[in-house]
Amino acid sequence: MGTRKVLVTGCSSGIGLAVAVRLAKDELRRFKVVATMRDLDRREALERAAGETLNRSLEIRQLDATCEDSIRECVNSLPDRRVDVLVNNAGVGMIGPLECQSVSAIQELFNTNFFGLVRLVKELLPDMKRHQSGHIVVMSSVLGIQGLLFNDAYAASKFAVEGFCESLAVQAMKFNVKMTLVEPGPVVTEFEQKGYEEAEKMDLSETDEETARIFRQIYLPYSRKIFNSVGQTPEEVAEVTNSPADCVQNPPFRHQTNRFYMPLTAMKHADPTGRLPIEAFYKMIFQHDRMFNASLSILRILHRRLGKGTA
Ligand SMILES: NC(=O)c1ccc[n+]([C@@H]2O[C@H](COP(=O)([O-])OP(=O)(O)OC[C@H]3O[C@@H](n4cnc5c(N)ncnc54)[C@H](OP(=O)(O)O)[C@@H]3O)[C@@H](O)[C@H]2O)c1
Repeated sequence: MGTRKVLVTGCSSGIGLAVAVRLAKDELRRFKVVATMRDLDRREALERAAGETLNRSLEIRQLDATCEDSIRECVNSLPDRRVDVLVNNAGVGMIGPLECQSVSAIQELFNTNFFGLVRLVKELLPDMKRHQSGHIVVMSSVLGIQGLLFNDAYAASKFAVEGFCESLAVQAMKFNVKMTLVEPGPVVTEFEQKGYEEAEKMDLSETDEETARIFRQIYLPYSRKIFNSVGQTPEEVAEVTNSPADCVQNPPFRHQTNRFYMPLTAMKHADPTGRLPIEAFYKMIFQHDRMFNASLSILRILHRRLGKGTA
């Protein structure tokens, strides 16, 4: 098999940047990477990380996942519009009490996280079907499997991504097009940082005092502890993401990147009534917080000893 052309979205930072660079630096030189970002003024970090691969195995192009014209222009600018692998990574986060989030802000979130994927797949899938080959790798999240307190809209956008891909995968298979959902747990990127900064500034006056207290005094400190204890680096996630991208014959449909998170997602499948994960989360957060904190400390030690949570 010759060189495969990989288009990655959201490469100005975090996971997208790490995935693009890792593929471009592949020792066997199997990939030509089209690393895209919505704002080319943010290209410096990628250029630095790409080093010698820049304009050799990695080229940078503009692509805004919320704009069909921008996607079409980018794809049309590629020789024969060829994309063998799409890594749909661009995404935004949102945390906080629902009463403090406007419907238009939630629509914006879906516009990137879900409709961005829809736009890219609509643009690329017909060509892949015609060529009877291709691979669509989608950056989902463990929150696409299991919801989480104060992540209502974000988790919903990733659930939408999961349902979309799960449905499409069967048709895609008929045309020899592979699909893979990558499901990271917490990853230490700008995503997390932006989330906390926005949370600090958030106007909580639209919600009641108790909810505001739970968000500020329980959720935010817990969330920080979780990121510190079991958070992966973007490079660790890139390593896992690139293995399905490498895997030409039989890539997995789902790929959770963090083994420390697996017991939480497994609860969902263990109890069809749905009580188990909801009650477990409730008890962990509101009743057994000391035990939860102790478990996090143990996980932090394990995480350091075993290195990474990479599955
Ligand atoms: N970090 C985590 O804990 C975590 C966990 C699970 C899943 N994920 C998922 O991983 C993906 C990457 O997130 P990250 O952690 O690497 O965060 P990040 O560092 O904030 O990167 C997000 C990337 O998406 C880009 N983006 C946002 N809106 C876009 C648009 N309309 N068009 C094109 N690009 C756009 C951003 O570009 P700008 O620089 O222009 O904003 C940035 O390059 C997301 O889909 C996220 O949901 C993250």
